[in-house]
Amino acid sequence: MTSRLRPLISAGRIRKRVAELARQISENHRGAKLTLVIVLKGATVFAADLMRRIDTPFVIDFVRASSYGKAARSSGAVVLGDDIPGLDIGGHDVIVVEDIVDSGLTITALIAALEKLEPASLDVCALLHKHVEGGGPAVAIRYKGFDIPNEFVVGYGMDYAEQYRNLPGVYRLTPSEDEH
Ligand code: IMP
Ligand code: MG
Repeated sequence: MTSRLRPLISAGRIRKRVAELARQISENHRGAKLTLVIVLKGATVFAADLMRRIDTPFVIDFVRASSYGKAARSSGAVVLGDDIPGLDIGGHDVIVVEDIVDSGLTITALIAALEKLEPASLDVCALLHKHVEGGGPAVAIRYKGFDIPNEFVVGYGMDYAEQYRNLPGVYRLTPSEDEH
């Protein structure tokens, strides 16, 4: 079996949307102690573009969060990096930067862990929100790039089995049978 890539969101559309999100973040958090908490690894490309468009001071931290199991399906068990309790975000405006919210389990677990550190505010910035039938926990995404259909996507930092993170846009990855 091979896989096929179909374009979903172009690099140009992403660039415009990222600039808009950065403008909103800059306006809403100007004058606050602002920390971007970037979720490894998928959000790194998005975060690198986003942070260069934010024009108010901030610092960054990285956290690990992953759902156990195979690459294309969330298993339901979320594993968070054990350095999260040591983050120095008390009293800060915190924005969690994620590539994609799918079932919502990862971001929900992360928010619960960060809440304990008593930030002044805690918001989510996600490039993509995938709509899943039946849905997982409802997640408020204050800064959202795009809503997408329930299909597996890669590119712009997002992977399938660690591949395709370097693609400049977002693509749907669909399995296709080999020709005989
Ligand atoms: P959730 O916990 O189901 O919301 O899954 C969120 C995490 O799963 C994201 O941080 C991604 O790492 C990964 N993920 C979910 N959907 C996709 C996808 O379509 N492509 C690549 N990674 C995905
Ligand atoms: Mg992720």
